[in-house]
Amino acid sequence: MQSFDRHRRLRTSAGMRDLVRETHLHTEDLIYPLFVMEGEDIKNPVKSMPGVYQWSLDRVDTEVQEAVDLGIRSIILFGVPAEKDAVGSSAYDSEGIVQKAVRQIKAAYPDFTVIADTCLCQFTDHGHCGVVENGEILNDESLDLLVKTAVSQAEAGADIIAPSNMMDGFVTAIRSGLDEAGFKHVPVMSYAVKYASAFYGPFRDAAHSSPQSGDRKTYQMDPANRREAFREARSDVEEGADFLIVKPALSYLDIIRDIREREQLPIVAYNVSGEYSMIKAAAENGWIDEQAVVLEKITSMKRAGADLILTYFSKDIARWLQN
Ligand code: PBG
Repeated sequence: MQSFDRHRRLRTSAGMRDLVRETHLHTEDLIYPLFVMEGEDIKNPVKSMPGVYQWSLDRVDTEVQEAVDLGIRSIILFGVPAEKDAVGSSAYDSEGIVQKAVRQIKAAYPDFTVIADTCLCQFTDHGHCGVVENGEILNDESLDLLVKTAVSQAEAGADIIAPSNMMDGFVTAIRSGLDEAGFKHVPVMSYAVKYASAFYGPFRDAAHSSPQSGDRKTYQMDPANRREAFREARSDVEEGADFLIVKPALSYLDIIRDIREREQLPIVAYNVSGEYSMIKAAAENGWIDEQAVVLEKITSMKRAGADLILTYFSKDIARWLQN
């Protein structure tokens, strides 16, 4: 009789498989994204993201309550302002939509961790993540506005600042801005490795943040590059980041693994809008089993090395984990 390994011994029953499972999902790992919008009595379905809504502040508490009841511990807020201009003034207005939302949610749920996405693209009329001059996105001029945005979000009570703009030096600029304003204790969750991805399409519908001309390829990364991700992550660690986001997640599991092996900070996988919508579309057609596919996919992100998962599926996952 030839000798070989009996791998199937550890798969003989559900109990046996539970015993040897290497990766576990927890509700505490989830960060739930919410789109908050100026106006009243709004719960607007985002067409390209079934199950995702834009919320006005008078209605958003029911959604937050639902997340809290499901055991979700943190949300990230994306603002859809009423007015846009060339320099994204509503991003750093103390009465801006994100600032108001943070104050309201923190007042009602002081123990809930509220993360503020720090970017300009939803707030600028040209839709870019910085200041534009003659078609060029200016780096250092944009940093000043991003610092103002981060500080005003911290003043409103944001627990974590999450800059997603991909300007160079944004972590050090925001870190010193926060420190000088007295927010030494507020962590920076940096979108450290952010690719110029076609998977962001549905988000741009939800956040009204498509660039009006050109694309984001001069600041977001080329999907073909791996070593560049190490340089981006390293810079952010040296500049004082507290968390590293890798975005998107599904097509970049190799990058999550690479960063896990090189850096010690908590890693967040951003399961982006297009990844959500693809599954929703297939599930609505009855082509895949939504719950099984989502859990497999989110587990793969953790297996790749992510500590936290930022996902539009958060409420569904929390519900499935309860059963
Ligand atoms: C803003 C921002 C984007 C996303 C999060 N923050 C869009 C972009 O860079 O164009 C995308 C998130 C998603 O697709 O779910 N800079």
